[in-house]
Amino acid sequence: MAAFKEFHHPGRLYQDDSENAFKLRRSDQVSVFLRRFQLSRDIGIDLGTANTLIYVSGRGIVMQEPSVVALDLDRGVTLAVGDEAKLMLGRTPGNIRAVRPLRDGVIADFDAAEQMLKTFINKGNEGRGIMAPRLVVGIPSGVTGVERRAVREAGMVGAREVHLIDEPVAAAIGAGLPVTEPVGTMIVDIGGGTTEVAVLSLGGTVLSESVRVAGDEISDAIGVYLKKVHNMVVGERTAEDIKIRIGSAFPDDEFDQQSMDVRGLHLLSGLPRTINLKAGDLREAIAEPLKVIVEAVKRTLERTPPELAADIVDRGIMLAGGGALVRGISDLISHETGIFVHVAEDPLLCVVNGCGQVLEDWKRLQRVVDTPEFVRSAVSA
Ligand SMILES: Nc1ncnc2c1ncn2[C@@H]1O[C@H](COP(=O)(O)OP(=O)(O)OP(=O)(O)O)[C@@H](O)[C@H]1O
Ligand SMILES: [Mg+2]
Repeated sequence: MAAFKEFHHPGRLYQDDSENAFKLRRSDQVSVFLRRFQLSRDIGIDLGTANTLIYVSGRGIVMQEPSVVALDLDRGVTLAVGDEAKLMLGRTPGNIRAVRPLRDGVIADFDAAEQMLKTFINKGNEGRGIMAPRLVVGIPSGVTGVERRAVREAGMVGAREVHLIDEPVAAAIGAGLPVTEPVGTMIVDIGGGTTEVAVLSLGGTVLSESVRVAGDEISDAIGVYLKKVHNMVVGERTAEDIKIRIGSAFPDDEFDQQSMDVRGLHLLSGLPRTINLKAGDLREAIAEPLKVIVEAVKRTLERTPPELAADIVDRGIMLAGGGALVRGISDLISHETGIFVHVAEDPLLCVVNGCGQVLEDWKRLQRVVDTPEFVRSAVSA
């Protein structure tokens, strides 16, 4: 855009009519043309259970919204997607359904997922190039062939080629790990629906384990605890809010004293009521899902070949995904494994940033994605 403006200020850039100035003008014209009509703006997508993020080459992350779709069942149309639809979760009348099309990291409701992806891609792809984009989509490493195909088909909305990248590989690239080098690194991506533990080396996954327990299970455990211990029912969003504000995985005397007021429905009276919940008391409530995550890390470490295990001991374990933001989770994993644990700088952005880096540095990093199975020619649909 800057070049475009300069071109319209001939007084500053093109004071004389010499041959040189003409050449400058020509080359400027070409670059303006290329920038305005970039042949293709490529797109990286982290299609997560909880959040979908979109990266556009040359622009960075352009969208981060919840993976939620609100459908009008009577008219069969999509009412809202993303942030707007998330506000409707648990608050819809009979004819409207707010759904999360992904469960456990894979597409559960194909139509809703396609609607969501279409809307998101259009949002993120304004000012698109004349060629349909190349798409790099992160998928959990444990998914089956059928699930891969479902993701690929949903991704084919207006793309010229769809590449799938294992989420742990993308997360590791996004977290700044040297994945293409001959050293072992361990990444643990704790998302909404799945936790993926992977050991990577030379751009590939040496071994990985995926458990369908992650951030959402931690919120669910809070809901179960409130019901059992306090006879209180709260919605999905309130449980998540409690987790974010006072949830913690490892003892911390000062933080454990903190508390918050929680509003919900009292099971016995059926009436709304408020209780005060202490951070320290909540830890026991979320211990079970945290244990499943820790066990997955331990099992993967046990299976790791010795040379790579030595690298991991040297370099530590890297945590990514929104679940890495649960207070004290790195201390817990470190305490249980005896290995230093880092939390990535922006854990929620690692996968999409990794997809983005692959697009920006396609020649070098192309080998970390699948070969395209479906190549559509030329202009977008
Ligand atoms: N500050 C926070 N503290 C604790 N948990 C958080 C925080 N922010 C987000 N989360 C949790 O992170 C999870 C979402 O993480 P993320 O966006 O990485 O998942 P996702 O990529 O959509 O899911 P998946 O990778 O399983 O498909 C949710 O369970 C959310 O509650
Ligand atoms: Mg994820």
